[in-house]
Amino acid sequence: MIREGNKITIIGAGTIGSTVAYTLMLKGLAREIILINRTEGRARVKALDLAHCRTCTTETDIRSGDFEDSFNSDIVIIAGGALPRKDGTRMDVLENNINMYKDIIPKLVKYSPESVIIVVTNPVDIMAYVAYKLSGFPHSRIIGSGTLLDTLRFKYILSERFGIEASKIQAEIIGEHGDSMVPVWSRTRYLGTDLQQYLSTRKLILDYKGREEILEETKRAGWNIRLGNEHSCYAISSSIVKIIENILSFAEDMLPISTLLTGEYDIKKVFLSLPSFLHKKGVSEIGIINLDNEELKQLAQSAKVLTEYIREADSLLMHKL
Ligand code: LAC
Repeated sequence: MIREGNKITIIGAGTIGSTVAYTLMLKGLAREIILINRTEGRARVKALDLAHCRTCTTETDIRSGDFEDSFNSDIVIIAGGALPRKDGTRMDVLENNINMYKDIIPKLVKYSPESVIIVVTNPVDIMAYVAYKLSGFPHSRIIGSGTLLDTLRFKYILSERFGIEASKIQAEIIGEHGDSMVPVWSRTRYLGTDLQQYLSTRKLILDYKGREEILEETKRAGWNIRLGNEHSCYAISSSIVKIIENILSFAEDMLPISTLLTGEYDIKKVFLSLPSFLHKKGVSEIGIINLDNEELKQLAQSAKVLTEYIREADSLLMHKL
């Protein structure tokens, strides 16, 4: 079945872009998908390969194209960008990716002025800010994939460690998609019960050291994939598709995505992840959740780190291409 009417453009036909396209086709979430890539040939063959699935997936109209073909998209996903060095950080590629956004955002805005932009490019919180600055869109229409990915990983790691089901864990990682991410342990639940309590009734131990190990493993997850000469694509694609399901109202979840803060928790002018509700015009509401003192402190620290990075992005934005 095709969910009527949605046109989705994906910029970047690499592993993430094409996996997102495939998942959208399987789920029938778009009427039309346009794949755009710097080297047009790659988008063309990817779109063809995907279109060949039509008999087995849904009647999604998938094509490669240029920005003119993307006109009036409801959603534009920016999945392209340089990858950091294996021993580097997500910040290494900032300048390169800002230059790419200087080129593509004006074209995107020209052809899809009413779209919601989903930013996936790293460093994602900063690139969401860059997209906001360059597009002139209301901030609610810019969503960074943020710590939704880290939240999926966190749930997986907990599920493996304690032999519980990932889908029944309620948990959030908030803040930066990077080293200053904040796990909200105080709200982590399993089957509706406080996780710590649930585990202790089963004689399972989650102490300070265990928490630190789980957090470290969550932070390292993307890099461990990178060190294996790959870069992550399935979990980030699942995150993007979840965001789209919420934008299109096929699901109503509070998702930790990167959004511009305008005073929440006394934080302003940075994109960082907080659990948010989405609708067809982007972010409809940022959920103000109760955090304990330690979590509040860590969130403020994460905002501080991102504010520094934004200063760097601002100076790069001033340079001409
Ligand atoms: C990761 C990249 C996508 O964490 O940031 O896998």
